[in-house]
Amino acid sequence: MTAPQRRYYIKTWGCQMNVQDQQKMASLLEGEGYAPAPSAREADVVLLNTCSVREKAAEKLFTFLGRIKGLKARSAGTLIGVTGCVAQQEGEAIFRRAPQVDLVLGPRRIGNLPDLVAAAGGAQRRVDTALDDLTAITWDGGTATRPGGKAFLTIMEGCNMACTFCIVPRTRGREVHRPLEAVVEEGRRRTGEGILELELLGQTVNAYRDGRRAFHHLLDEVAQLPGLARLRFTSSHPAFFTANTAAVMASHASICPQLHLPVQSGSDRVLGAMRRGYSTADYLRRLEDLRRRIPHVALSTDIIVGFPGETEVDFRATLDLLRRVRYAQVFAFAYSPRPGTAAADMESDVPGHVASRRLTELFTLQDAISREENEALVGRTLPVLFHGPSRRDLEVAAGRTACNRVVNVPGLAPGAASGHLRDVRIVAAGSHSLTGEVVPAQADGRDPAVREPRAS
Ligand code: SAM
Ligand code: F3S
Repeated sequence: MTAPQRRYYIKTWGCQMNVQDQQKMASLLEGEGYAPAPSAREADVVLLNTCSVREKAAEKLFTFLGRIKGLKARSAGTLIGVTGCVAQQEGEAIFRRAPQVDLVLGPRRIGNLPDLVAAAGGAQRRVDTALDDLTAITWDGGTATRPGGKAFLTIMEGCNMACTFCIVPRTRGREVHRPLEAVVEEGRRRTGEGILELELLGQTVNAYRDGRRAFHHLLDEVAQLPGLARLRFTSSHPAFFTANTAAVMASHASICPQLHLPVQSGSDRVLGAMRRGYSTADYLRRLEDLRRRIPHVALSTDIIVGFPGETEVDFRATLDLLRRVRYAQVFAFAYSPRPGTAAADMESDVPGHVASRRLTELFTLQDAISREENEALVGRTLPVLFHGPSRRDLEVAAGRTACNRVVNVPGLAPGAASGHLRDVRIVAAGSHSLTGEVVPAQADGRDPAVREPRAS
């Protein structure tokens, strides 16, 4: 009788880097013969892949650990591991708060996962959180399947900036850049496997360098991969966003007309206190240049409200920036002090209720802008790459336009559509998504969407 196949379950919180770390860990475990389990209860290895960017994000780990407390009682052999930024930051302290945890693994140590899992068992707990030893960095996304026709490509790890609010340089360490040829090679393998969309990943993705070659050189090479319909990259830092990058974006049909450029605040005084390294005038100049080259480019950003010392005047400047840029999408957060960052020691905190009110006001303004921008697309036909079911309804297929707008298509089966590009006529628009219907393929049998990836 053969032993039942061992199974793993990974729960991820946080940014795309974490989503890609999940993919890497899944791939390593599958290489050891593990299969994915549908829930923590059915798994032999449970990994909680965490985010510590805001306090709420970090607390989610302990809430989840509380929920799965009974797992060990039912099956003593289950391994529970904590990975990601909370693992890096808290290290052994996690065992004191959650004795059921067996393994704590930092983001730069993912390559050691198979050995640590194999060695697990008995009473010994393990912590592996070295930041300076680069031998266990895992660049390749591996082979574990991720439906949806899209793959991430990690091009750099860590961050050399010192934004005063941000914990990431402490949890992910100094920058390490992957050799350009290795990025292109993984991209070639992925497109060869039928992947239509690639997204280059890094905390400051456009600060990438490989010797004399800068980010725009890499972008230019990856954009030419045969079979690649869409290329994106995130997150760009405004201080490194060059005219060369804008020019490369404009010169390849495969590069999506979309840019996520986190501004954080519309007030120069606050940007200075955040140590972001640019002014609002610098930021707007770069966007103007990009819009001149790609007039229909869709922009998105991150905003923090309630940073220490943010006045009503500063906050109004942020609202003015939103009105001026007219982003397609804004990710806004109330400032959350992170222990060990420079801003955590700053005085003149903004009271919680003021930050909440500002956040609500900001979302009200942005929702109206996003809705107007989305409504302008009603009646147009756009190529959509489907990735699975919509968030609200498992029976409705969801995908994204080249501009990264979510499109839901009722009546289209998510399973069959996933991973395919289809032309979709937009019939309705909200602040956060569009609704559409599939336009039948053309008489020549070719999908028109594949030939016109820049239509939105
Ligand atoms: N690397 C990106 C960049 O260049 O801005 C962002 C990294 S961070 C993981 C993602 C977003 O979380 C930031 O852009 C910021 O808006 C938000 N964030 C980071 N630290 C925060 C904090 N202490 N409180 C609230 N939001 C925070
Ligand atoms: Fe954080 Fe600033 Fe780097 S937001 S990830 S320290 S660019």
